[in-house]
Formats: sequence, structure tokens, C-alpha cells
Amino acid sequence: MSSIESNIKSEYKNVAVFGQGFVGLPLALSFAFRGCNVLGIDVIQGLVDDINNGITYHTESFDGKSIQEILKEQIDLGRYRATTDTAYAMKNCNNIIVTVGIPIRNGEHDLSDLLSCISEIGKNLKREDLVVIRSTVIPGTTEERILPILEMESGMKAGEDFYLAYSSERIAEGRAFEEFAYMPTVVAGINDESAKRAKELLSIVCKTDVIVASDMKVVETAKVFENVQRDVNIAMVQEFARFTEALGIDIYEVIKVANTHKRVNLLTPGPGVGGYCIPNAYYYLEPKAEELRVNLDILKLARLKNSDIPNVIVSMLEGELLKLGKKIETSRVGVLGIAMKDYSNDDRISPPIEIIKILLEKGARVFAYDPVVPTKYDFKVDSIEEAVEEKDAILILAKQKGYDRFNEEIVNKIKKGTVIFDTRNIISEKKEDLKARGMFVITI
Ligand SMILES: NC(=O)c1ccc[n+]([C@@H]2O[C@H](COP(=O)([O-])OP(=O)(O)OC[C@H]3O[C@@H](n4cnc5c(N)ncnc54)[C@H](O)[C@@H]3O)[C@@H](O)[C@H]2O)c1
Repeated sequence: MSSIESNIKSEYKNVAVFGQGFVGLPLALSFAFRGCNVLGIDVIQGLVDDINNGITYHTESFDGKSIQEILKEQIDLGRYRATTDTAYAMKNCNNIIVTVGIPIRNGEHDLSDLLSCISEIGKNLKREDLVVIRSTVIPGTTEERILPILEMESGMKAGEDFYLAYSSERIAEGRAFEEFAYMPTVVAGINDESAKRAKELLSIVCKTDVIVASDMKVVETAKVFENVQRDVNIAMVQEFARFTEALGIDIYEVIKVANTHKRVNLLTPGPGVGGYCIPNAYYYLEPKAEELRVNLDILKLARLKNSDIPNVIVSMLEGELLKLGKKIETSRVGVLGIAMKDYSNDDRISPPIEIIKILLEKGARVFAYDPVVPTKYDFKVDSIEEAVEEKDAILILAKQKGYDRFNEEIVNKIKKGTVIFDTRNIISEKKEDLKARGMFVITI
């Protein structure tokens, strides 16, 4: 890559990134192509093997190169390698970045991955090492949970013998490399020296402001608020969509008009809120709010409303099919897109998957096409044709290249009388044409 930094101080040359997932891999590569020696640590042997063989399914790119090209280049240059060997990585690196997450299951958080990672780091920690937590956490986690484990396992004191900082991860999947570099990065340390060192380390990758906040809790909390505000905004616009449907006007036109106001920025409705970040965010606040006896009713309602959108979508589809005398349990439903958002390969907490599960539970036959998501499912098909031909309904749930423009070639494969339910606003220009050709179009 073109962006090698000539002036990286020797103390920041060796970087270990724990967790080689959607954040950790592109972050590790960002340090590598700027000239650091980077080890990426993960507990999944198959993932580590794939990565070391140049295989990743992520859809990231930077400077005209795909993540696959960047990965191969950095492996060949010997600047990046993945490993499961924590002790080896800790021996060779003095800058430790943690991107291991806190999964939420049925509304409950699970700290075990993160804390076991921290425990391994603590056991192998050396004097003067810098540990930067980059995972999204329950506010207070770095000081209350992570610091005591690091001190206990290492027998050293944070801020004196080793350095500890928290820096929130703010990227969106698909724009990771660009946002590591050009989204302001926020950091705080257990003491000034920790914050200073973390800022210097992060500045190797971040080419815009690295903002130092007064307290790690501030950065942890700001991160969760950033995500929760999107959750609430999306819940609000979903209600707006129900209102405009009932009123018989187009939500997208209303949003476009409203957003001409300089202080208004309405988001767009869709099939639900997916991914690891926004749906989890409320559940990172809730436990701390309970401890502090703070009421989060609005935030909770927004979360519940958003998690119910897949049911709303299926009900809308059922209603439309019933108008045509068809029952969902005997319907063949084509689905375009199973990723958690447009142009992504990530199907974690994916609204399309939720919608498909509900459809299957109701007895529908589902034929879902997504050329980018690698996960295997029984309901997946290998071509657009299999998803759109001879169907009672077609649901457009996530855009991918190949059908983000609903062109004539696709339309010609759809039979008359098919319900087309567009939740991604890709057929608005063709709506009247499709209706004239005997299809039933609904949008959200
Ligand atoms: N994905 C995003 O767009 C995004 C954006 C901002 C913030 N975040 C936050 O960043 C963090 C990572 O998210 P992600 O999407 O990369 O998750 P991910 O699940 O893709 O990656 C986490 C990786 O950590 C690995 N892991 C688990 N235990 C480990 C251990 N003990 N040692 C080493 N590795 C271990 C897992 O195997 C996994 O590959 C989360 O806290 C998330 O909330 C994610």
C-alpha cells in the first residue's frame, strides 16, 4: 500500500490485535500496511488458518484494493500474521489492542469471551506494555472488570507498570479502513501517560483527530449512546412509516422533504435493525442503569419496537397475500438479501434471517439469494432466478451488487400476480411500471 509511515516510533512498531473478526482483521491490517509488525490473535483455529491463507469473506476495501488483496500483500511482506498463540503474540508485541466483543443473548450480556481474553493477556503482560480496549462495553467495564483482572494476573499495577486505555470503535462494516483513518478516534486512559501512549499508537492509523477524553467511562458511554441514538431514530422512523402507509403517502418522499430542513436528519425505515452494534447497544446500558437506578423507558421501547419489525414485515406480507386469496403457509417466497444490512457479508442478528425464520415457522417455502453472505442455510439458493421465478411473493431485504438496480432482466423473470415487497427502496422508480405489468408492489 502507498501509506507506509516512515516515522513510527520503535515502541509502537509491534502490535497485537486480539479478535480477528469484522473489526480486528481490518484494524490489524491498517497497522500493518502503515509499517507496523502485527499479529492478529483469535481463538478460532479455522479462522486463523483461513486468514493466513489469504481467505476472508469481508467486503472491505481501501485505496482501490480489496481486503483480500491487502491481506495477501501484508502476509507476503511479513508484516501481518494471524495466530491462536497468545503467549507468542504477547512475547513479541508491547502494544495490545482488544477487539473481542460482548455478545447479547436474549437480552443478557455475556462477558466471558472478553474476560477470558483479558485474563490471557494479563498472564503474559510485560512491564511497559500498553493495553487498549477497543470493544464496545458496558460503561465502567474497563476500570471495574478489566483492570482488576490485568493487575491480578500480571501482579503489576496499571498506570505504573503497564498502561491501560479505552478507545471506542466507531466504524461501520464495509467502510472500516476508511473510517479507522478518517473518523475521529476517541480515547481515554487510566492515567495521562496511558492516554498519551494510546493516542500515539492510534495516530498511526487515524489520520484525523484523536480526541483525548477525561475518563475511560466517558468514552465507553459515548460509544454506547452513539449506537442507541440510531436505534431510537430508526424506531421513530418506523412509526413514521406506519403513519404514512395509513395516510397513503410515500415515506421516502416525506423523509426527503423533511430532511431539507437544516436541523433534521431522518433515517430510512427498513426490515429491522441488524448487526452486532445497534441491536446490542441498549443491553450494554441496561445493566449499568439498573445498578444506578436510572430509568431508560424510551430507549427500551425503541429496542423492543425495532426487534419486532420482522414480525411487522411478515404481517404486512400476509395481509397482501390474503387480499389475493393466498395463504402464507402455501406460498413460495423469494428473498433477495440475507445480510444484516446492504452490501454486507455479515448475517449476525440479521433482520432478513429473522423474517425468514418467521416465514418458515408459518409454513412458507423460502428461496433466499445473497451472493456475499458465506453462511450455509437450507433456504439459500444460488441464483437470482431461483429466488424470483414462479414465486407468490418476493421480499427485497438487503441490497447486494447484482440486484441493487431492479433491471429489466430481473423484472422479466417475475410472473404476473407476484407480490413484490421492497424494504430497501430499490424499485421506487419502477413501481408504477411493475403495477401496470400485473405485479403487486408494497414498500416500507
Ligand atoms: N462489527 C462492527 O461493525 C463494529 C463496529 C463498532 C464496534 N464494534 C465492536 O467491536 C467489537 C468486535 O466486533 P466484531 O464485529 O469484530 O466481532 P467479531 O465477532 O467479528 O470478532 C470478534 C472475534 O474475537 C474472537 N475471540 C473471542 N474470544 C477471543 C479470545 N479470548 N482471544 C482472541 N480472540 C477471541 C472471536 O473468535 C471473533 O473472531 C465488539 O465489541 C463490537 O461491539 C463492532
